[in-house]
Amino acid sequence: MDNWKKKQAQGLSSGTVNYGDKEFALFLRRAFIKGAGLSDEDLSKPIVGIIDTSSDFNPCHGNVPQLIEAVKRGVMMQGALPIVFPTISLHESFAAPTSLYLRNLMSMDTEEMIRAQPMDAVVVIGGCDKTIPAQVMGALSAGKPFIVLPTGPMLSSRWHGERVGACTDCRRLWADFRAGRLTQAQIDDANNHLVPSVGTCSVMGTASTMACIVEAMGLTAPGAASAPAVSADRLRIAERTGFAAARLAKGEIAMPDFGKHQVHNALAVLLAIGGSTNALVHLAAIMGRVGMRLDSAGFNDLANQTPVLVDLKPGGEGYMPDFHEAGGLVRVVFELADLFELDFPTVFGDCLRDRLNKFSVTDSSSVIRGRSNPIYPHGGLRWLAGNLAPHGAVIKSVAASEKLLEHTGRAVVFDGLEDMAHRLDDPGLDVKADDVLVLRGIGPKGAGMPEAGLIPIPKKLAVEGVRDMVRISDGRMSGTAFGTIVLHISPEAASGGPLSLVRNGDRIRLSVKESTLSLLVDDATLEKRKADGVHRLLPVLAGDRGYARLHSQEVLQAEDGCDFKFLRKSPR
Ligand code: FES
Repeated sequence: MDNWKKKQAQGLSSGTVNYGDKEFALFLRRAFIKGAGLSDEDLSKPIVGIIDTSSDFNPCHGNVPQLIEAVKRGVMMQGALPIVFPTISLHESFAAPTSLYLRNLMSMDTEEMIRAQPMDAVVVIGGCDKTIPAQVMGALSAGKPFIVLPTGPMLSSRWHGERVGACTDCRRLWADFRAGRLTQAQIDDANNHLVPSVGTCSVMGTASTMACIVEAMGLTAPGAASAPAVSADRLRIAERTGFAAARLAKGEIAMPDFGKHQVHNALAVLLAIGGSTNALVHLAAIMGRVGMRLDSAGFNDLANQTPVLVDLKPGGEGYMPDFHEAGGLVRVVFELADLFELDFPTVFGDCLRDRLNKFSVTDSSSVIRGRSNPIYPHGGLRWLAGNLAPHGAVIKSVAASEKLLEHTGRAVVFDGLEDMAHRLDDPGLDVKADDVLVLRGIGPKGAGMPEAGLIPIPKKLAVEGVRDMVRISDGRMSGTAFGTIVLHISPEAASGGPLSLVRNGDRIRLSVKESTLSLLVDDATLEKRKADGVHRLLPVLAGDRGYARLHSQEVLQAEDGCDFKFLRKSPR
């Protein structure tokens, strides 16, 4: 990425359309954009592109129009020209079959539109789970200076006297409804209160985790991870982002190289906040764009040193607005400064140490704990290996039941979501509370890796009061979910991974202490099952044309971020 530093602002004249006559191409471009009322003076300035991901299907981005206005103000104060352009917009609840399936499409859209259009720097505005990963992947690959502006978290609300917010409470209340603890009228009423404003989910789910990660990587303004979407703070951050983007465009700030310092901070902050397991998939994809790979042993070593300090749902109690008031990401870095890289440059030209030097703890709430009083001593996330997951799997220990972290149980297997939906609540299902629920066929190729790893507790156990069981799958789970859930098992079952060989009644052992996930079946039996080709019966996401075909041919496994093979850079 060294070439970023050497580029001078080219404004409108960069990347002209190929007519075989560069002067004419520029003449034509100027003529067209003047049709929008711009003057020669405007067009002589460096250009800051601003990506608009607003959509009526995406309430997590409902504040983007206001953010754009604030970014433009900042850009113009620094004497550059802001130009807004759209890319696609992905909301978790509106992007079928899964938003991860479409993340790479968004990254390609982002990359190509940044590359194709004349801009000297770009502000990428987004927030809903897959957006920031897609934008960072795309912007890194495009190779132009960029700043991330998260849309920010929504507010929290109250229902029947208790504080609620999307979407940990959505899942908790739905589980209560399934178990008969809430009536239809009550769950319908709760539905009106769970999302009280625009913005991203108000817990430390994937959106907030990714926002913290990009701030720790120095790709945002200070405080950008946590200021509520509808706050004045958020608008001031947007203005500051525009200001810095113009300085990047003019060459007054050099775009930092992206490499091991940023990745280290991303992993450290993910662990310290007890963040979403999805972040590991996205980080692997982001790293792949600069020729790096996630190191599982290094990750577990860092996990062993890093306490979880943040007491937010889904694992804890608070909500994102509390996190912001407690000092946000900078406070987390402040508490664990020795675990972070502090001296590499950010896109603002400062470094994290400068931000720490300006920071003082003014909030005494316990949402962000001190090192001596963590909510979890270390290892909030753990990378697992073993004969059931030769290329890895992950568990969010901090959101799991402690008594299940070391567990051996009998497998109860479901082949895909349809099979699970069909049989899970059957009163005749042979299942007990100490069994291990296995859901396979929901990996990247099988089903676009939906957030279905949070297998519901079978109804007959739920009504008896069972609230958690060991559940394993080749899928993902929402960052807002909780439970003893093993995810991202790789290779996935639909690709013939060992998960495809599990049979009902097999014994499965989870040991978080040893970081292992094991199928307690001898090798000869497994070889015989392999020869039977069980996995060929599992569903695969069909794709005989268009994007679906591209996805089915190119998607990689979780440890490579589910990126497409051809989008990754050759290893460094
Ligand atoms: Fe958009 Fe949760 S649904 S961040």
